Amino acid sequence: MRSASEREVPPVPLLNIRNLSVAIPTPDGDVHAVRSVSLEIERGEIHGVIGESGCGKTMTGMAALGLVPKGARIAADRFHFDGEDLRENAARLRGRRIGMISQDPAAALNPVLSIARQMDDVLRAHRDMPRQARHSEAVELLAATGLPDPERVLKSYAHQLSGGMQQRVVIAQALATGADFLIADEPTTALDVSVGAQVLALLRKLVAERGLTVLMITHDMDVIAEACDRATVLYAGLSVETGPVHDVLQRPGHPYARALLAALPDAAPHGAKLEAIEGSIPPPRSQIDGCAFAPRCPQAMPVCALQAPPERTLAAHRWLCHLPEGSA
Ligand SMILES: Nc1ncnc2c1ncn2[C@@H]1O[C@H](COP(=O)(O)OP(=O)(O)O)[C@@H](O)[C@H]1O
Ligand code: SF4
Ligand SMILES: [Mg+2]
Repeated sequence: MRSASEREVPPVPLLNIRNLSVAIPTPDGDVHAVRSVSLEIERGEIHGVIGESGCGKTMTGMAALGLVPKGARIAADRFHFDGEDLRENAARLRGRRIGMISQDPAAALNPVLSIARQMDDVLRAHRDMPRQARHSEAVELLAATGLPDPERVLKSYAHQLSGGMQQRVVIAQALATGADFLIADEPTTALDVSVGAQVLALLRKLVAERGLTVLMITHDMDVIAEACDRATVLYAGLSVETGPVHDVLQRPGHPYARALLAALPDAAPHGAKLEAIEGSIPPPRSQIDGCAFAPRCPQAMPVCALQAPPERTLAAHRWLCHLPEGSA
């Protein structure tokens, strides 16, 4: 008889990315928007992707949605969603399995169509339902996002709704497609603090109740702490650390992750930006030898400028650094 551990099949991540790169050709040379990102997102988790502006967070999400700029070159050792290769299937999966919530809900909604019309357009395109059933479904989805009077919201236009209500409508639209994986790109950045916190609470509730999975892009450590189960830290288009949020926040391994946390004293206001680290990320057209963080790293050693750092592993917590484990 086989033991329990032999019978256990390790979970296959829903989004499984290994060494993704996205290069955008420009007249001045290639922009390395994403250099090497690895990301494993399990079903039912909210996985935060955090880093300074320009680190490649949005482009990673766009690549998964099949929405990279024209001419961009995507390469990866693995780029799978639920076993399907995103290089061939991203456009088909977008709006069926993979939905998008952006920073600016006002821009995501059409200003001249009622919410009813916009919800119905999505339901008609994605679900085979008669008109009355679509209406009921629209009401149910708007209620599920916490909107108190769905019938009134349906009769409204985007400008008649607050930013928080607009973001809930955008989330309802994403659910209306039938998507079970949402890419939320800075979904609370345009909202004020308490409304942003409500939207995060809503996403957590939807994950728990509907079995959704969320890739949460943010530059805000508070969002990671409040809403995410695991997190991946990006630096200059590279994933440099990943693990359970508790480990990344309490025992960051990579000096960049430590610097991000140090730049946010406990008393920092919610929404504080990650701009307190001296220096800036390498230009996206540059070639990187050794560790990308070396010019800014307080612990850099001669080897750091020469050799790409090795992976350090402590159970599910992994990071790239020449420093030996436990040297923080
Ligand atoms: N269409 C584009 N053409 C050229 N460069 C781009 C384009 N989109 C993004 N970039 C560059 O790619 C890098 C990563 O961008 P992005 O993914 O938007 O970063 P983030 O979301 O982390 O702020 C940045 O240097 C950005 O300027
Ligand atoms: S590899 Fe070197 S430069 Fe890079 S983060 Fe580690 S110590 Fe700093
Ligand atoms: Mg972005």
